[in-house]
Amino acid sequence: TDLYAVIGNPIAHSKSPLIHKAFAQTTGQDLDYVAIEGPLGRFAETVDEWRNKGLRGLNITVPFKMDAFAYASRRDAAAEEAGAVNCLTFDGAEAEGANYDGVGLVRDIEANLATPVKGRNVLVLGTGGATRGALGPLLAREPARLTVAFRTPGKEQELRALFPHAHALDFAAYADLDAPYDLVLNATSATLSGEAPPVPGRAFARGALAYDLAYGKGLTPFLRLAREAGVGTCVDGVGMLVEQAAEAFLRWRGVRPETKAMIERLTVPLV
Ligand code: ATR
Repeated sequence: TDLYAVIGNPIAHSKSPLIHKAFAQTTGQDLDYVAIEGPLGRFAETVDEWRNKGLRGLNITVPFKMDAFAYASRRDAAAEEAGAVNCLTFDGAEAEGANYDGVGLVRDIEANLATPVKGRNVLVLGTGGATRGALGPLLAREPARLTVAFRTPGKEQELRALFPHAHALDFAAYADLDAPYDLVLNATSATLSGEAPPVPGRAFARGALAYDLAYGKGLTPFLRLAREAGVGTCVDGVGMLVEQAAEAFLRWRGVRPETKAMIERLTVPLV
């Protein structure tokens, strides 16, 4: 039986073991999947120990995605662009690093939520790691315009430098957001302090989709703000979570699992 795992700290609430075991069952794959609580500051040693026990692949969550980036012996383009790795695949001495967060997000938006990105106006809130991972996959879908909203001026410079040739990409302070957007994505960590990013109601187009990349936090302050601004479709990142897992599963096992039933199973009403 091939062994896979997710590593994070904390890890108790991770849905990854449930998701991957269900994928294995529905695709007829023989594998086991465990959750590892990684001790802080000991990422590489911990992964080495599990590889010695036969670990074939590893998903990486907070706070180890940058450690996993450093650990990887090679990395795919999305990982390089994100500066973070959320999936490691072990093959002898090699540790191949990938990042499926952005592609999972786009797949959820387009395939599951039936919202094409091409030709639309997209607003991404925040300039941190979550935004960095999402920008490349979103830009690849050719939005008409992709605006990144920043709170602290200057924090957007690193992102700007990453995509020097993206003509659709621009950056704005929250107070300067004056156009309506079809798709508004919360990639800030504002929820952690119980806040909503200060996005003005006029930023939501009629029929907009409001998407919080966080998962399992219920109706976040951002989603509540969007709802109060009249947005009809407000969702959290459960679909993104399941879709990035499906990408990892495909990389490891060569089969793409169905995601719809799992997303439905993990979806909690946002109240
Ligand atoms: P992550 O890796 O999860 O993206 P991060 O790198 O710390 O986390 O980035 C968090 C982002 O959320 C930052 O852009 C941060 O803005 P600042 O750089 O100005 O701090 C943004 N953020 C956090 N709380 C926010 C709030 N209340 N309103 C708006 N933006 C907020």
